[in-house]
Order: sequence, then C-alpha cells, then structure tokens
Amino acid sequence: MSRSCVITTEEPNWWLTPPAEASWEVGGTEQEPSAERANGCDIQPVALVRFADSAGLADWVASLLLRERLLRPERPLGLATGRTMEPVYAALARQVNGLPPAERQELRRRWCSFNLDAYVGLDRADPRSFVAEMASRLTTPLGLDPERVHLPDGQAADPHAAAECYGAQLAATGGIGLQLLGLGLNGHVGFNEPPCEADAPCRCLELSPATRQQNAGAFGGDPEAVPQQAITLGLREILAAERLLLVVTGAAKAEVLRRALQEPPTPELPASWIQLHPRALVVADGAAAALLDASREQGESLA
Ligand code: GLP
Repeated sequence: MSRSCVITTEEPNWWLTPPAEASWEVGGTEQEPSAERANGCDIQPVALVRFADSAGLADWVASLLLRERLLRPERPLGLATGRTMEPVYAALARQVNGLPPAERQELRRRWCSFNLDAYVGLDRADPRSFVAEMASRLTTPLGLDPERVHLPDGQAADPHAAAECYGAQLAATGGIGLQLLGLGLNGHVGFNEPPCEADAPCRCLELSPATRQQNAGAFGGDPEAVPQQAITLGLREILAAERLLLVVTGAAKAEVLRRALQEPPTPELPASWIQLHPRALVVADGAAAALLDASREQGESLA
C-alpha cells in the first residue's frame, strides 16, 4: 500500500499565510513533494492547514474569500452551503461590514459567485432552499445584488435542462477562480454522490439515502422530507477551478477526510478527486484532521 497523497511540507505560495495559531501540516518527508500516478492521473500535493480553534478557522477562510473577490475579481467565486459554512459566512459578513465604504461598494459592484448546488423542487422562498440560505447568510448581510449570486434553478420544470443551462452559464464566465467546498459524510462534494467520475458534468441527480439522512436536520429530522433530487456542478467544473478550498470540521468527518486525502482517488469517494488538482488546500479543525497523521504513518510503514 503506498501513500496516495503528499501533504506539502511547505506553505504553498498561492495562499495567504495563516495566523500563528494555525499550522501548515508538515508531511512525513522533508523532500519536495512530487506528483505520483494513480489511475493514469497525476496525484498532486494537497496542502493542509489545521486549526485548533474553529472561530479562527472560519475567520481565515472568510479572509481568503474576501481577498479573492477584492484582488482577483475576473473569475467567479464558487460557493457552498451546509453547516460547515455557516460560521464562514458570518465571519465574511463581519469582515465586509468592517471594510471602508469605498472598498465595500467596489466589492458589491464586482461580486460574482456561483453556488455548487440546489435541491430540486423547493420554492425559492422556502427557507430550506439554498437560494434562501444564501440570501440570509450572504446576499442580504453583504448587501449584494441577488443577480450576482448565482444558484442552479431547482424550481425549473425541466431540472436536467436547468442543470445544462447552469453549466453553460458558468462556462461562459471562463470558470470558477476559487472554489469553496464542504465534505459530505459519504464523501460527496457539492451533491456529487458516489460513485462519481472525475469528469462528471453539471447535472441533475438522485440524492443518496445517506445524504438525505445527513441533511434531514433542516427538514424536521425526516430524511423522507428531504428532496429526492438536486442539481450540482460536477467534478468537471469543480476540478476546472483555478484553486480549491475544502473546509472540514468535526470528528464525524475525520475518517472520510482521511480516505479522501490518503487513499487513491476513486469514484466511490468523489472528494478524493481533489488529489488531482494542482492547487488544492484543505482547511480542517483538529477533530476533522485527527486521523491524517496516523494513517500516513501506517501507509508508509506498509509501503
Ligand atoms: C451538503 C451540500 C454540500 C455541503 C456538504 C456538507 O449536502 N450539498 O455542498 O458542503 O453536504 O454539509 P455540512 O457542512 O452541513 O456537513
């Protein structure tokens, strides 16, 4: 068994330096990480920043999003929903509201984001829809023009056509600059349910029982009440982003994060395809990152 993922030993030069309380993860080797091969694809180094403090984590991720919009406005920002992102958007709202008025105006004027996914069949006004979630956590607190905050049209009569249209709309912009990602307990990113190939496009799909269970909290705890379908950007659009930012918190995600980063990429774990991306950064709290070191040592001792 060989290690499938190299965790960088050095801070990549394409991110902001994290605050002192966070640490860039030190890999098991002092050598420069080199690409390895798996399934005919190049495995790239994945950088990991581990935060002991989840408030510090949310603040730092928000600062990356803000910097991206202020300094690199040419490409849209890729956004995600979910509980992991709630403190991130709260921190972003605080940071934006602390900007000088002229800079805040500029940010609003230049804003352009595309969300990863949306449930099919929920009314936009339904508070459980991702449109409503983004409105309350992002669009309203930041004072953004809703026309600049793009989400798939989960209410369309033909969700498959709506997915195709959303993919084309994104492609017309040139694609995502920085893509924010959360991690599903079953290894999904966006709503790319396993099994999922690395070239899967934006599409409408059936949600797995595991995902409906994971997201049941917003639906009175009843997985049957969670919509059966969703529209999601595919791994194709996600991997085409200039940079990936996977944010993972909580002990419940530790094992799936370990598999995603340290086992060979596989359709059975869609998040594992981020190993193919040349600029992927994982930001995790101590609980989510808890299994990474141990598994790497195990992988090396078995090599
Ligand atoms: C959800 C969303 C993802 C999200 C992930 C993690 O189902 N479709 O975009 O990132 O699963 O969600 P959470 O942060 O609530 O654990």
